[in-house]
Amino acid sequence: MRIIAVAGQKGGVGKTTTAMNLAAVAAEGARVLLVDVDPQQSATWWADQSDDNLPFDVADDTDPNNLARLRALPYDFVFVDTPGSLEGQAVIDAVLRNADFAVLPTDPAALAIGPLMRTIKQVVVPRGVDYKVLINKVDPRIPSKLEEARDLLDAAGVSRFANHVRMYSVHERAPIEGKVVTQYDNDLRSARAADDYRRIAVEMFAGWTMTTESAALTEVN
Ligand SMILES: Nc1ncnc2c1ncn2[C@@H]1O[C@H](COP(=O)(O)OP(=O)(O)O)[C@@H](O)[C@H]1O
Ligand SMILES: [Mg+2]
Repeated sequence: MRIIAVAGQKGGVGKTTTAMNLAAVAAEGARVLLVDVDPQQSATWWADQSDDNLPFDVADDTDPNNLARLRALPYDFVFVDTPGSLEGQAVIDAVLRNADFAVLPTDPAALAIGPLMRTIKQVVVPRGVDYKVLINKVDPRIPSKLEEARDLLDAAGVSRFANHVRMYSVHERAPIEGKVVTQYDNDLRSARAADDYRRIAVEMFAGWTMTTESAALTEVN
């Protein structure tokens, strides 16, 4: 089992969106649980809209100290959706202590990168957890913004995914419709949106020893 925390300093950067959709693509080839430790319970609310139709299980236990116990359960991947690291410092600390990997979504805006660096230096690195920054909400019409974000991260020596996640309106609709991105078909944009997360998942799994589960997932993709 791998426990993957989706974390970051700011609200609204896409932590919940990332956690739900990475869980969805991982569930195409593995047994997946999403744990919602954010007191705001956005992921739980999203799951409630789905009438139990998500391709993975969701647990709304907000006590991160229970994460270690999850290792006994029959899941290949556990994604943990977290509150912002300023509001929920104790929660984030506990999650990162128990996590094998952290995905840190950020807005590509230069102003978002500063707070992100602080989170990495003050919260992630001290816990010794492996991480990668995910550039989210990329507007394909403004490629220079993506380049700027990449350059800033690379100049700071921060580890990041080579791929990114584009801005698509399906991500704003999905929680209300109780769906994740893999559940929209017949629609080119949603297919592209799902592919964004598949590329991120493949990068994440490629960094780990090939287990049976991740091998199966790579084949799916
Ligand atoms: N790639 C994306 N494309 C379009 N909208 C997005 C994307 N990622 C996140 N959003 C939207 O941004 C808002 C904040 O995202 P959310 O996942 O709730 O952030 P957080 O959990 O960090 O507070 C939501 O309205 C969400 O639908
Ligand atoms: Mg959230």
